[in-house]
Amino acid sequence: MGRCPGCGEWNTILEQQITASRRHSGQPVSQEPSAVLPLAEIQGDRQPRLKTGVKELDRVLGGGIVHRSVILVGGDPGIGKSTLLMQALAKASSAGHKVLYVSGEESAEQLKLRAERLGIGGGALLVLVENELETIIEKIEATSCVVVVLDSVQSVYSRSFEAQAGSVSQVRQVAGRILETSKKGSSACFIVGHVTKDGALAGPKVLEHMVDTVLYFEGERGHAYRILRAVKNRFGSASEIGVFEMGDCGLSEVANPSELFLSERPENASGSVVTSLVEGSRPILAEIQALVTGPVPGQGRRTCLGTDSQRLALMIAVIEKKLGMALGDQDIFLNAVGGVRATEPAADLAVASALLSSFTDRSIPPGTLVFGEVGLAGEVRRVSRAAERINEAARLGYRRIIAPSANADQVPMPSGVEMVAVSRINELIPVLFDAVRPKKRGK
Ligand code: TYD
Ligand code: MG
Repeated sequence: MGRCPGCGEWNTILEQQITASRRHSGQPVSQEPSAVLPLAEIQGDRQPRLKTGVKELDRVLGGGIVHRSVILVGGDPGIGKSTLLMQALAKASSAGHKVLYVSGEESAEQLKLRAERLGIGGGALLVLVENELETIIEKIEATSCVVVVLDSVQSVYSRSFEAQAGSVSQVRQVAGRILETSKKGSSACFIVGHVTKDGALAGPKVLEHMVDTVLYFEGERGHAYRILRAVKNRFGSASEIGVFEMGDCGLSEVANPSELFLSERPENASGSVVTSLVEGSRPILAEIQALVTGPVPGQGRRTCLGTDSQRLALMIAVIEKKLGMALGDQDIFLNAVGGVRATEPAADLAVASALLSSFTDRSIPPGTLVFGEVGLAGEVRRVSRAAERINEAARLGYRRIIAPSANADQVPMPSGVEMVAVSRINELIPVLFDAVRPKKRGK
């Protein structure tokens, strides 16, 4: 422009260089210009995974921490995220790994108090209390630890952003920069994110697409057990769960979750049935409870906890059509006890059994276990990994297993276990309420 539109003078406009500030989209920025490569020529990262020593955590991660990966750990405030990660770091450090715990929420003294409660001496565990992202990154790079915990993403802010700590833009910025630091540097990073109810604060959901692995730490208030669940894992199964129990000295691992989930099961109560679920790499037995009450005026209510409401609707329709029972005007509540998720199709037959048991008010004899998928035509379909489900049931003393016929032929039965094969849902009622014939040894 020759003439300034502001003051009207000629030739007063000067050129100025503006250095564009780098935008962080959250994706790692590679240093060299990218090239198109044949897949065969790319060298894989052969570094072994780092085991934290907390077995349940390692398993949920797919066998340990992948070098330079970023793991988001989400959960309600107070559920035990800090405790879990502090314990994991302590174990890793006592195995000789250099680790750093960055806290933006608690003071060094508070961290020390928790560590003492957990019986952690310290050793090589480094601690940094800081809220400013730039300082944190500087320290991460300077200490070159193999594992870093950032607790929590909502308590950290970046200088280059004006938004409040914990706002969506800050949370994205912080996670993006941490991701970049991990990918360029040498450390794997756990990012803690609180699940928040109101929209003012950003929860871990906004970060899920950026990170490698997303774990949620769940549990019911008033109960001691906690479930660590993988919901996304670039390096392992995304259906794995780890089970912990919160005690006075922190979290302890529960090696046999089936026993825990069935420990409070009522005997001879209608509406309760045990099924075998496969969560990631292992089978877990769980109790499914149904309560069918009515009739109520109009359409009955349907409430699902830990189960799939779509599959419940499907089961209700199949029972009405194929067994001629009218459930439309009944209130129906369905619960997978203990915080497990019985959403896989293999739980269908157990859901149907619980509904039938509650509706007819007849209890399913102890020692009986049910699994199988149910199709819309009322057929009972084959499920995957039947042998593992059956062996876990046998291990815990279940002596009568109602399962799809298609699975019955494939699987060798453990001794003393009776297989009751069903191929249609009509065959379920006659066998469901039958007593265990050999010997009552059920839980
Ligand atoms: P914390 O790890 O601070 O939760 P988060 O980081 O997810 O917010 O856990 C806090 C809760 O755990 C608190 O209610 C007290 C309980 N707790 C125990 O029961 N035993 C223990 O040894 C510790 C350290 C905490
Ligand atoms: Mg915490």
